[in-house]
Amino acid sequence: MEVIILPSSKEVGALAADAIEALVRNKSNAVIGLATGSSPLPIYDELARRHDEEGLNFTQVRGFALDEYVGLPVGHYESYREVIRREFTNRVDVAPENVHGPDGASENITAACQQYEDAIVAAGGIDLQILGVGTNGHIGFNEPGSSLASRTRIKTLAEQTRQDNARFFDNIDQVPHHVVTQGLGTIMDARHLVLVATGAGKADAVRDFVEGPVSASCPGSILQFHPRVTVIVDEAAAAKLAGAATYRHAYDNKPVWQGL
Ligand code: F6R
Repeated sequence: MEVIILPSSKEVGALAADAIEALVRNKSNAVIGLATGSSPLPIYDELARRHDEEGLNFTQVRGFALDEYVGLPVGHYESYREVIRREFTNRVDVAPENVHGPDGASENITAACQQYEDAIVAAGGIDLQILGVGTNGHIGFNEPGSSLASRTRIKTLAEQTRQDNARFFDNIDQVPHHVVTQGLGTIMDARHLVLVATGAGKADAVRDFVEGPVSASCPGSILQFHPRVTVIVDEAAAAKLAGAATYRHAYDNKPVWQGL
């Protein structure tokens, strides 16, 4: 696991965008795993800027969302399919038919989850998965207690997560209790995981998943088993990392040819 500490969320977004740009320039039909929430927004802003100003091309890129609320009507402003469309894919030239998300409105959620797994495999797997981390250590919506081998399925949101996400809704009663999320096993199949976290509110979660024991109690800790993880955090989110000096030293002395 590589941990990179940068001054602010703008630099965090720009560096994650560098990884995506390098991938897309090397593989025009790359498969990108798309997270929602606040953390990836600077990445999407930067990719949209590079598309507008530098001609970064996404026409053949495929995208798979990490998760989706269950119970929101199709087209709801806060459904993750809409958020991804609004915040990223509509701002660049990703073809709408190349953007996929778990179907939280299906009448047969179990079958829809299997179809989503199958669609990821049919696309050749995810080349780069963007991740955020919840204040309780979740990735995707794999809440504490999730199986470390889980696949796409329905989950019940932890109350803390509903409270954290209430800011996107008029009030907490509107935050769904259920979601469909890629499982931890699904996420671990991606070839490169890029997790971004910013702000003091993420410092405990970052410390726990980077340096704590691997445990279902902190789902993000499963990333310690992945061969290629890039964790990009700002100073505030890195504040509780015991190994911060080591991570800074390694990054400052990283061979340029290695890239991200
Ligand atoms: C979103 C997702 C979640 C968020 C996490 C952090 O698709 O899967 O794991 O990444 O809840 O959310 P923010 O970035 O809003 O703090």
